[in-house]
Amino acid sequence: MWVPCPASPIGRRSTILFPIASAGTPVASTTGAVSPATAKTHTITLLPGDGIGDEIMDATVKVLEAVASRFDLNLSMTSALMGGVAIDATGEPLPAATLDQCRSSDAVLLACIGGYKWDDLPRATRPETGLLALRKQLGLFANLRPAKSFEQLEGASSLKDEVVNGVDLMVVRELTGGVYFGTPKGIDTDPSTGARVGYSNMIYHDYEVQRIARVAMDIAMKRGKGVVSVDKANVLEVSQLWREEVIKVAADYPEVDLSHMYVDNAAMQLVRWPKQFDVMVTGNLFGDVLSDCASMLVGSLGMLPSASLGDGSGPGVFEPVHGSAPDIAGQDKANPVACVLSAAMMLRYALEETDAADAVEAAVEAVLNAGWRTGDIMSAGKTLVGCKRMGELLVEAVSAGGK
Ligand code: IPM
Ligand code: MG
Repeated sequence: MWVPCPASPIGRRSTILFPIASAGTPVASTTGAVSPATAKTHTITLLPGDGIGDEIMDATVKVLEAVASRFDLNLSMTSALMGGVAIDATGEPLPAATLDQCRSSDAVLLACIGGYKWDDLPRATRPETGLLALRKQLGLFANLRPAKSFEQLEGASSLKDEVVNGVDLMVVRELTGGVYFGTPKGIDTDPSTGARVGYSNMIYHDYEVQRIARVAMDIAMKRGKGVVSVDKANVLEVSQLWREEVIKVAADYPEVDLSHMYVDNAAMQLVRWPKQFDVMVTGNLFGDVLSDCASMLVGSLGMLPSASLGDGSGPGVFEPVHGSAPDIAGQDKANPVACVLSAAMMLRYALEETDAADAVEAAVEAVLNAGWRTGDIMSAGKTLVGCKRMGELLVEAVSAGGK
């Protein structure tokens, strides 16, 4: 078992640049014989955003530094403004400089955005609009939201243990189409009645459905080979097309067991018997709703990472599923684990540093095994810690090793 050792203080930095290993001397590492002089530098843009973002990002950066030290990785991490903090500083939620920096990075790690302060701004300048623009501009059409129960968190879910123990599913959410982006949209006045009318347009092109279906099938092939496509084809034409296109793509994946579920039924089945799901693929809005629902299977939104990926020509964005929790911001109460696990997804999917990703995930397990809990996952007999301390414990676990 992992034993905690004395913590090092966590300081804030806006720019973190290293190799950590001493220059010049070739170092044997568990990732292979890597010389710090020749090891590839991974450039990462950090978007701490709003609310609890600073706290969880601080903790996560420390964990990344620790894993970089252990595996001789060269990580060049630079912060940029996005969300409410960017609105305050520049008037825009996604400044052009931030987008440019993201584009020239290998990966983007985002904490969370939004808060009461910006809720009444016009839609174009709200923090959420910046997030949607980031996804659209980077072409991140595939949002992977895994929900895997932690045996250490038994009792943390509002559902019965027998229902959630052993849950391991992946929500594959389409992220750049559907009703989030469809046009026409707006709020107008109906000229014939004078009534105000608001409308958004749920629209999918065949190629948008096909590419997300392929992502889901490819993921399923590496997991349990089961895909449930979620739609509302009994009512919506857009869903009818969705279903037809998914079925076409599935013809290329004879080993995948594909089934279809209406979204209302899927929501019910998620809380009734979630272990029936392996991969769930769905559109933008349904995926938004169902992934929050899936988070409760794990016990807390504070545990759920996500990856938003495009066609590979640009960087992916890795972010916790949870929001900015302005009610607890600045109080050292936030759970950094979802952000840390998002960093692990970044190491795995964007930077192809599998050993480092494994080590970060193992550290989370070790800290939970040792009984440490933030408030959102606290239960009887466990030890309550704040965000900063949780980050320190994760750093110690990474440095102590173990997979
Ligand atoms: C999410 C969030 C966002 C979304 C908001 C903040 C725009 O709820 O990532 O799930 O709806 O996609
Ligand atoms: Mg959401």
